Amino acid sequence: ASTLGASAAADGRYFGTAVAANHLSEAPYATTLDTEFNAVTPENEMKWDAVEATRNTFTFGSADQIVSHAQGQGMKIRGHTLVWYSQLPGWVSGLNATDLKSAMDNHITQVVQHYKGKIYAWDVVNEAFQDGGSGARRSSPFQDKLGDGYIEEAFRTARAADPDAKLCYNDYNIDGVNAKSTAVYNMVKDFKARGVPIDCVGLQGHFNSQSPVPGDYQANLQRFADLGVDVQITEMDVAGSGTAQANSYTAVVNACLAVSRCAGITVWGITDKYSWRSGDTPLLFDGNYAKKPAYTAVLAALNAS
Ligand code: G3I
Repeated sequence: ASTLGASAAADGRYFGTAVAANHLSEAPYATTLDTEFNAVTPENEMKWDAVEATRNTFTFGSADQIVSHAQGQGMKIRGHTLVWYSQLPGWVSGLNATDLKSAMDNHITQVVQHYKGKIYAWDVVNEAFQDGGSGARRSSPFQDKLGDGYIEEAFRTARAADPDAKLCYNDYNIDGVNAKSTAVYNMVKDFKARGVPIDCVGLQGHFNSQSPVPGDYQANLQRFADLGVDVQITEMDVAGSGTAQANSYTAVVNACLAVSRCAGITVWGITDKYSWRSGDTPLLFDGNYAKKPAYTAVLAALNAS
């Protein structure tokens, strides 16, 4: 097929991108989105500070804009993200444990119910583990006040609010086999053993020269899949340009295609112009929406299988 989404769909997968609501009115942005991609993730619009800046007052306008655009195009929608230490309004961190638990449950319930039936997969909890070799949980209001159990509480609450959405744990630097990915692996294994509802692991896939695509990437995807969850590449980008960048993208696509439970790939933006990695060129389309070597490589890899 001649587009990323159609090529991925030929293998039963999706190819998505992060989207920002305020760029949808830019014609080449929307045209590239609609032509090439068959899944979207709101880049910031569903985060806690965007939807519940004030306690129990929910503002879904920008997120709804992305959801209705995506629905109009028949795209899958990944919900990002319900519980995260970042982009968290100040009022949340001020709560005591009892209040925080009810605020977290209410946030999850209200947001998931608002989008019930429309979301393919939710990133229920994002980035709960520390970097480095410890495999420890990251400090956050949730971790510090509620303890390890907040993660399963979040998953159970999300399941109750929309039983049909896939529920993912999402993190970065878990792309290869390392202490952090093994800590996530052990948590997922425990959840599966105890019947905590989890359906997928999101591997963000932010790569650069310090953290290149690891040699054991496919093996790591496979070990998660073998636990009985899907894996999804959720936020891919690769710092750099040219052939090296294209080769990294190819390696990720090939690894996903080789793992039957790798459901799809999402890149973290359409055009280099709007990447969160300002000053870098990590995406598939350049600042003028021209296809880069990385685009050509991804399309070829998707069609080679
Ligand atoms: O919306 C405000 C705007 O009102 C204000 O005028 C402006 C001034 O700074 O800031 C705007 O908010 C910014 C927001 O993006 C929306 O553009 C924040 O400052 C900025 O920090 C925020 O960055 C986002 C970042 O998450 C925050 O942590 C990036 O766009 C987004 O790409 C990035 O995405 C994360 C994933 O959610 C999780 N994984 C890592 C990934 C990359 O960091």
